[in-house]
Amino acid sequence: MRRFLAAFLAAALGVAGCGSAEDRVEAPGFLTDRNGGPTTARALRGRPYNQSARNLDNRGLARFAAGAEPFDRFFLEAEGVGPDHDGTGCLSCHLDGTEVSTSADRDRPPGLIVRISLPGTDTDGRSQRPVPVYGLQLTPESTHGDPEASIDLRWSAVGHRRADGSVVELRRPNLEMEPRRGELPDEMLVSPRVTPPMIGLGLLEAIPEGSLRAAVAAQSNAGEVSGRLNEVVDGDTGETVAGRFGWKAGQYSVESQTLAALHGDLGLSGPDDVAPGERSDLTREELDELVFYNRTIAVPISRGTERPMVRRGASLFESTGCSACHSPTQKSGPDEIGALSNVTFHPYTDLLLHDMGERLADGRPEFSASGNEWRTPPLWGLGRRVEVTGAEAFLHDGRARTPEEAIYWHDGEARAARHRFELLGDADAQALLAFLDSL
Ligand code: HEC
Ligand code: HEC
Repeated sequence: MRRFLAAFLAAALGVAGCGSAEDRVEAPGFLTDRNGGPTTARALRGRPYNQSARNLDNRGLARFAAGAEPFDRFFLEAEGVGPDHDGTGCLSCHLDGTEVSTSADRDRPPGLIVRISLPGTDTDGRSQRPVPVYGLQLTPESTHGDPEASIDLRWSAVGHRRADGSVVELRRPNLEMEPRRGELPDEMLVSPRVTPPMIGLGLLEAIPEGSLRAAVAAQSNAGEVSGRLNEVVDGDTGETVAGRFGWKAGQYSVESQTLAALHGDLGLSGPDDVAPGERSDLTREELDELVFYNRTIAVPISRGTERPMVRRGASLFESTGCSACHSPTQKSGPDEIGALSNVTFHPYTDLLLHDMGERLADGRPEFSASGNEWRTPPLWGLGRRVEVTGAEAFLHDGRARTPEEAIYWHDGEARAARHRFELLGDADAQALLAFLDSL
C-alpha cells in the first residue's frame, strides 16, 4: 500500500523516473534528511555547526544568541584564561565553519587534547587518579612561563589486511611529550583525543536513561554486540549516573562537560569555583546560556537521501550490522526545552561503550569504561565534517583520514560487522560509504 501510494504520488506530482530503478530501491524506515527531527536545520548556510534548532521559540532563539557569545569568545589572559590551557575559546577546538583549521601542521588534527592519569582510581574509588604536578590533562600552552609540556604527534603507517585478502595502508599516532615540570611517571596512562562536533547534544541528553538501559539488555540478549553504560560520578550529588558525552562517555551532562571544558581546556572559573560575592570568569547566567546554546545547536540536513545509491547504502548499513551500535533511531523524553521534548531523531548511536579491540585501545580507563572501550559516536553530520573543520580526522585520536579507514579499525565487538563490510562487493561498499557521506 505504501509503495503504491508513493508511486501514485510521484505520478501525481509529475516526478520523473516513475517505475525506474530508483523506485525499486527500498530504503529502511530510518532514512530521512532530517536526522534531528523537527530540530534539523533545513539549509546549510553560514556556519553549519552553529545553527539553532529549527523549532526553537522566540525566547529560545534569544537564549541561543546569548549563549553563542561566550562560545564564540576568545578569552584574554585578563579575562582569566590559564595559566595552563589548551586553547583560549571553545572555537579553538570546536571548529564550526567560522574558519577551518589554521594549524600549520596539516597532520595534526585541530583540538587534539592529551588526557593523562595514573593506574587505579582516585580517593572516591571511581574517578581517575591525577598525575602529580600535571593533573588529568597535559596542556601545551601557558600564560605564565613554560607550558607543562610540548606535545608532538607523528604518524606511522600500518598495513591492514581486509577479509578479502587485499591490503590497505592506515596510520597510527605516536605522541612525543616533553615535560617541562619534572619527569612524567613511567606508569602514566595517556589518551589523545580529537574534538567531536557539537550538534544535537540536547537531544542525546534527553534520551531517558531507561531507554539506554533497555538497549544494554536488548544487546546482551541479541548476541553480536554487548554495549554497556559508563557509570560516572555526578560531582554535585556524588551519585552514580549514566555517562553520555566524550569519547568514553565520561561526562553525564552537557553542563558537566561544559564545566570540564572551562576548567581543563581553558583554565577558566565557573560560578561554583569562587567564594560567594566574588566574580567568576564566567557568571552563572553566562554559563546557563552557554549550556543552552550547546544543547540546541541543530543537526544539519542530510544530502541525497533520494539517490538510489544512498538508499541502498542505508539498507546495507543495517544488514552489515553497523546499526547494532550506531542505532539509527532514538526518542527523547520530556525536556525543559520544549523544542527537544518527545522528539524522534536519528543520531546513529546507542551512547553505549563497546570493546573495540586492542588496536584502538588507549589502555586508560575512565570511570567504568575500560582501556578497550569507546562510546559509539553519533554519525549525524559525518558527511559535513571535513568541509566544516578542514580536518580529515575520524576516530578518537583522528587516525582515520576517511570514514572508510575508520571502519577498517573496527575490531572487538565490531569485528563481525567490519568483516561483512570488507566482503561487500565494490558497488555495495561504495553505496554504504555514500550513505555515510549523505549524513
Ligand atoms: C583544547 C580543545 C578544546 C577546547 C578549547 C574545548 N573543547 Fe570541548 N571537547 C574537546 C575534546 C577533545 C572533547 C572530547 C573529550 C573526551 O573525549 O573526553 C570535547 C568534548 C566536548 C563536548 C561533548 C561532545 C560530545 O559529543 O560528547 C562538549 C559539550 C564540549 N566539548 C563543550 C565545550 C565548550 C562549551 C567549550 C568552551 C568553553 C569547549 N568544549 C572547549 C576539545 C576542546
Ligand atoms: C560494536 C559496535 C560498533 C559497530 C558494530 C560498528 N561501530 Fe562504528 N564505531 C563504534 C565505536 C565505539 C567507534 C569509536 C571508536 C574510536 O573512536 O576509537 C566507532 C566509530 C565509527 C566511525 C568514526 C566516527 C567518528 O566520529 O570519527 C565511523 C565512520 C563508523 N564507526 C562507521 C561504522 C560502520 C559503517 C559500521 C558497519 C560496517 C560500524 N561503524 C560498526 C562502534 C561500532
